[in-house]
Amino acid sequence: MDQLVIRGGRSLRGQVRISGSKNAALPLMAASLLSDAPLELGNAPRLVDVRTIARLLRHMGVEVTGDGTPTIRLLAKSVHRPEAPYELVKTMRASVLVLGPLVARFGRARVSLPGGCAIGPRPINLHLMGLERLGATIRLNQGYVEAEAPRLKGTRIAFDLQTVTGTENLMMAASLAEGTTVLENAACEPEVEDLARLLNSMGAKVEGAGSATITIHGVPALAGTVHRIIPDRIEAGTFAVAAAITGGEVTLTDCQPGHLEAIIARLEEAGARIHEGPTSIRVTATGRPRAVSVHTQPFPGFATDMQAQLMALMSVAEGRSVITESVFENRFMHVNELLRLGADITIAGNTAVVQGVRALLGAPVMATDLRASASLVLAGLAAQGTTVISRIYHLDRGYEAIERKLTALGADIARVKA
Ligand code: EPU
Repeated sequence: MDQLVIRGGRSLRGQVRISGSKNAALPLMAASLLSDAPLELGNAPRLVDVRTIARLLRHMGVEVTGDGTPTIRLLAKSVHRPEAPYELVKTMRASVLVLGPLVARFGRARVSLPGGCAIGPRPINLHLMGLERLGATIRLNQGYVEAEAPRLKGTRIAFDLQTVTGTENLMMAASLAEGTTVLENAACEPEVEDLARLLNSMGAKVEGAGSATITIHGVPALAGTVHRIIPDRIEAGTFAVAAAITGGEVTLTDCQPGHLEAIIARLEEAGARIHEGPTSIRVTATGRPRAVSVHTQPFPGFATDMQAQLMALMSVAEGRSVITESVFENRFMHVNELLRLGADITIAGNTAVVQGVRALLGAPVMATDLRASASLVLAGLAAQGTTVISRIYHLDRGYEAIERKLTALGADIARVKA
């Protein structure tokens, strides 16, 4: 298994290009199931999760080419197996995004229940509630969700809480339903908006995406299209923190500053200087960061996917910061690893109190999930001495060529075989 070896203490300087968004790419690829015409996605990130969903779609009969390159082409002309097996769903929960499109276009789907996950229980009850409201019959059978519906029918669906992939699943399903669907308390994330843009360019009638009320007028069929995936706001945020934690100066190019307001505000509060261009952000930091407190929230609040990275920064800040995780139940797995590097953090329930220390000291640590891994990389960049991170396959799920990008910015980081 690969490990990352980081010799910390270097300031990062230069430019880094932000890749296409993982969490946009996955639903966009699932949307190929809605049409028998070709879909072309540009600015695709080269990530393990993208390969996994490509594998899943191929398993069903979709022709997928170019995964692993910046342009992915998908053609779901004949889908002979509308099924997502456990072996694939257990490695990537986002596989559940095929459920809505399959039922909507083929009238049936069989998708494994995802089960637990390192960051919390993460049920899919709201996806299922929504499909039932659209008229699907749902059965749970031997760990699988079996859904059936001759033709889905538009209706009003109010979510108890905002769910990103739940909103995406139902938006896709409702696009091919008969009549109008209104999703209330829908997720407002930019990835939901990007999916709505794709659906509309395939001929769907989706209004209000990006707000909490989304209206979808169903159409009988959708066409193919060409679409460019939005930049990855979490990758961008992670590199912004890399600049801040190393006292460096890094320009992020090909990003969308408008998607990064919550993290930019916190970095400025922490003392970094930020210069925004139309598609770029320059982050300049000198000296020790100041402590800032956050609680995670759905967009446009501070993203749970940036919580671990901000905690790495707060570990070396001047003062005490309070970080509250309100989206997931168990997303502090990085804390014990940060402690191994000398951080001073105590957890009470869903709150972590971080007392900044002057310096972290390199040590062997273990990655536990994608964003936890990113926080360990950031801590390793700032730490004195050598940090060795094992189980980095988590990182490859969501960060394209992370060590190559960091090396180009002056980091001393290498991937080695354990
Ligand atoms: N929830 C339910 N029932 C449901 C669905 C969600 O109770 O049916 C709960 C979850 O357990 C959680 C909260 O609602 O407590 C929000 O979860 P959400 O459904 O929004 O998360 P998700 O759609 O499974 C996506 C991203 C995650 C990101 C979250 C929150 C994708 C593929 N994944 O997950 O990304 O953390 O939204 O923003 O879009 C990551 O990239 O590292 C990652 C985990």
